[in-house]
Amino acid sequence: MEEKKKILEDFREVLSLTKKYLRQERERGLREISYKPQATSHRLQKETLEKLRKEVEGCRKCPLWRSRNNVVFGEGSPNAKLILVGEAPGRNEDLQGKPFVGAAGQLLTKILASIGLKREDVFIGNILKCRPPMNRNPKPEEIKACWGYLDRQLKIIKPKIILAMGTFAAQTLLKTDERIGRLRGEFHPFAKGVRLLATYHPAALLRNPGYKRAVWEDMKLLKKEYEKL
Ligand code: URA
Ligand code: SF4
Repeated sequence: MEEKKKILEDFREVLSLTKKYLRQERERGLREISYKPQATSHRLQKETLEKLRKEVEGCRKCPLWRSRNNVVFGEGSPNAKLILVGEAPGRNEDLQGKPFVGAAGQLLTKILASIGLKREDVFIGNILKCRPPMNRNPKPEEIKACWGYLDRQLKIIKPKIILAMGTFAAQTLLKTDERIGRLRGEFHPFAKGVRLLATYHPAALLRNPGYKRAVWEDMKLLKKEYEKL
């Protein structure tokens, strides 16, 4: 009986100290309690993504491994709210192992800057992680072989918005063969709490300045929705 009383007293004390602590935290601006503090979940995301990178660096799931110099896994924030998806590495990307570092990449960096974003704020990746020879179009079987990696990147990073750049990204992610000109310009539902915006690929924009206006419209729409996140 004596022991029971003691336990009850201890419990009351813990409860009262917890209440006091929470009251203080609320006064300091605390609004919600999470069992997994943000710093911990961000560290986990970073570690999981790095493990996946190591795995992809050894990938031989499609014949593109034979001609690559480097796997281009993608780069940026492991907890980005916005992920950009292109087609496949080109020559410069294959040589450096980084996405969008050639001419199209420089344009992409400028496009991001025009809506107030830095490359590090987002995650930049591709449908294929290895360069197709002579920059030919990705083959359906290559896209199929590589898809699991982008799928896992999306599940780790958990972006709220996906920007699909170009036909291959838009059609693969939306599982459609609708033309990019019809897919762009509006958000599409992608998964629970995730929306996808499609636009022309920056390389297409370099070849065809007529796409500029449409891309600018898409970027304004992206900025508006991104700022609400
Ligand atoms: N084009 C792409 O689609 N991806 C890159 O990484 C570079 C150019
Ligand atoms: Fe593997 Fe993708 Fe590279 Fe093919 S393109 S070898 S599936 S990482």
